[in-house]
Amino acid sequence: MKAAVLHEIGADKLDVRDDIASSPVTDGKVKIRIKATGVCHSDLSAMNGTIPCPVPAVLGHEGAGEVIEVGAGVKSLAVGDHVVVCWSPQCGHCKDCVNGKPHLCMTYMMDAFMDAHFTMGGEPIFGMAGAGTFAEELIVPEDGAIKIDADVPFDVASLVGCGVMTGAGAVMNASKVQPGSSVLVIGCGGVGISAIQAAKICGAAKIVAVDMVDQKLEWAKQFGATHAVKPEDLSATSLALTGGAGFDYAFEVVGRSDTIRTAYDNTKRGGTTVIVGVGRAEDMVSFSAFELFYNEKNLRGTYYGSANIRRDFPLLLDLWRSGQLDLEGMITRRLNLEQINDAFAAMQSGEVIRQVITFD
Ligand code: APR
Ligand code: ZN
Ligand code: ZN
Repeated sequence: MKAAVLHEIGADKLDVRDDIASSPVTDGKVKIRIKATGVCHSDLSAMNGTIPCPVPAVLGHEGAGEVIEVGAGVKSLAVGDHVVVCWSPQCGHCKDCVNGKPHLCMTYMMDAFMDAHFTMGGEPIFGMAGAGTFAEELIVPEDGAIKIDADVPFDVASLVGCGVMTGAGAVMNASKVQPGSSVLVIGCGGVGISAIQAAKICGAAKIVAVDMVDQKLEWAKQFGATHAVKPEDLSATSLALTGGAGFDYAFEVVGRSDTIRTAYDNTKRGGTTVIVGVGRAEDMVSFSAFELFYNEKNLRGTYYGSANIRRDFPLLLDLWRSGQLDLEGMITRRLNLEQINDAFAAMQSGEVIRQVITFD
């Protein structure tokens, strides 16, 4: 089958080839025919080494498709089911799962580095984050595929598998944005736009979007931002809207130390700063000992939108169905797998929100 492969960390292009196969479907696994896959910044981050990824690997982790084979012991899925791929499956039984933090489940974490579930020219290769949705077929554990209603278009469903879950979950799960509150979102890609939409759904009164790309600021307003400004205009906007006190919630959706610092600085005393973006391990952020004490800000990360995927994937699709979460509108470009490298260029120049690759 066809798939897009990363051969080495630091390579600036993926290799689209047709000699990839999926390994056999073993007990507890399912094989999915991928129908649509979103292109997320984290794919680029796997290429440049920000996110650890064993190589060679089929990239892609935001996908949806149809189950075409089930292994022995699989109970919750059957051939023909439509599913969203989850790149961080939740086992449902470990301490984190039963303690209400299933997004921290480690049960499948090491599979990404141990379980080479594709072959390239007959040799085993990996899939990004245990997934690898830039492929026509993909094998995941039963817990890594969440069944959805068959009438949900695959392109819409694919986005829920990463970007939308991550951005909306940061707002709804990690920080529980309150009605009437003020919200700052730095970075308006697919994840940031999802955070903006969720902040509106939660009833935030002021939603300020920050990005350096003009088109992104336009989109941010279309998706619910009440104000959208360039980074250099944030101070003046904060002064006008909060009297300079800062926002109740600030979401960093870029993955850089300087924007993390900006998010913290623009959070009001007692407010909440949420780190959504994935930055490099060596990119250090500094805080003074005094400010951490004195400002009493809640500074927290959020992994995969702090999701409970079996609850949240259907919940997000219900919000989409009710017209409150616009997922079609986020798909600003559709392409085929051969155009994957072009997709990364478009993402970096800021001309798209989300690009979705479809397979016929
Ligand atoms: N200030 C403000 N905005 C910035 C800055 C900055 N210094 N640097 C980049 N941006 C904007 C870009 O212009 C772009 O609109 O951040 C946005 C990032 O969007 P995408 O590249 O589409 O990334 P996305 O897929 O939304 O992911 C964002 O979340 O899940 C993580 O790994 C992912 O770290 C990444 C982040
Ligand atoms: Zn678990
Ligand atoms: Zn992603």
